[in-house]
Amino acid sequence: MSNRMWGGRFSDGPDAIMEEINASIDYDRKLYRQDIEGSKAHVRMLAAREIVAADDAEKIAHGLDTIKSEIEAGDFAFSRALEDIHMNIEARLAELIGPTAGRLHTARSRNDQVATDFRIWVRDTLDTLDEQLTDLLQALSERALAHAGDVMPGFTHLQSAQPVTFGHHLMAYVEMFARDRSRMRDARKRMNECPLGSAALAGTSFPIDREMTAAALGFDRPTANSLDAVSDRDFIIEALGAASICAMHLSRLAEEIVIWCSAQFAFVTLSDRFSTGSSIMPQKKNPDAAELVRAKTGRIYGSLTALLVMMKGLPLAYSKDMQEDKEQAFDGLPSLSLALAAMTGMVRDLTANTKTMKAAAGSGYSTATDLADWLVRVIGMPFREAHHVTGRAVGLAVERGVQLHRLPLEDLQAIEPRITEDIFTVLSVDKSVRSRTSYGGTAPANVRKQAKRWLKALERE
Ligand code: ARG
Repeated sequence: MSNRMWGGRFSDGPDAIMEEINASIDYDRKLYRQDIEGSKAHVRMLAAREIVAADDAEKIAHGLDTIKSEIEAGDFAFSRALEDIHMNIEARLAELIGPTAGRLHTARSRNDQVATDFRIWVRDTLDTLDEQLTDLLQALSERALAHAGDVMPGFTHLQSAQPVTFGHHLMAYVEMFARDRSRMRDARKRMNECPLGSAALAGTSFPIDREMTAAALGFDRPTANSLDAVSDRDFIIEALGAASICAMHLSRLAEEIVIWCSAQFAFVTLSDRFSTGSSIMPQKKNPDAAELVRAKTGRIYGSLTALLVMMKGLPLAYSKDMQEDKEQAFDGLPSLSLALAAMTGMVRDLTANTKTMKAAAGSGYSTATDLADWLVRVIGMPFREAHHVTGRAVGLAVERGVQLHRLPLEDLQAIEPRITEDIFTVLSVDKSVRSRTSYGGTAPANVRKQAKRWLKALERE
């Protein structure tokens, strides 16, 4: 049997393989709500412009509401033969209200219909991600405020570099996730234009009101070019691009949590709620949530890459290739959502082992820069020379197997006679962090100020 929706010129039905490769209903059924909303806005506009009769439009809108309830009650029989969510809904509408259902698709094509449904889904998902990022920013800022004065080692090359505070480290992620949130907001602004009424590719000869449908569906305006509207998917690519950058940040924090949880570091302890055990090793408490956040990043990049490659060779306007956009989006963005939720939970719950962090902060000659800075500040030595002198002091400490502040004054003076007792005031990790008062630096007072500024800004939203 040929297809009821488009089979006028067909005498034969599709091969089973054709049906299998063509059907998207298994995943695009997720768009049922957006599709029904879009159809209702469309038919109301058709009635307002007297393109369909008002009572037909009412019948159609009412039928669509019935379908929505059926789907939500699990009473809807989705059919692969009907390809996608759009035709499944329209076919059911015909069963419910008869031939009047056929008036719904006036001045519309599945091409502008799917682009509209999908944009609504992406936009609403960006709004959810925005809220989740806000929660994460709040959790990080709160923990940062609490640990503004707790010293930990700062690393470069994962080697001890200079002491920082745990609060400062957390606030670094606040800056990153805040930029992620602003990228999502930006993407949302750019994408919030309504394709409905672009029809198949060229627009329509019916006197439709695109402003009306755009407004009814929460868009800022209709799209300005019908070819562009049905043939681009940059909006989801941009959303996945922002999601990928955010996932990269999440993955770095997840990686740090994994390292910090190891017995060798023991900087933090994850709550039981966000850890798992081993079925063979009774002592184990594994940071699986952090590992999975790290892993989700790969899937999200995968979605972005798949769509970039899928789109790159398509001539205008719509090609069926574009049907593949949805599975990627439905995997990529919800993966980020789950990763954000898991990270926020971990951050809220984790215990910082401040004593261990502080002890580690003092190892690895992390205050060597402070010694060099003292030489510059107090005896006016050029920094390069001070760097060299300090390097010799570190060499001596390595040789003796002691930390920098444990070297006797005489030994330091043997390297540079102008060094005095005062040097020891800058060699402690506490002094070191407290001295980093430059704007954006790790001094606890700075960190407290930044954390409070963020908490206030988040509260005001
Ligand atoms: N299921 C299709 C998609 O997701 C809907 C658009 C189909 N349009 C067409 N002319 N075949 O892209």
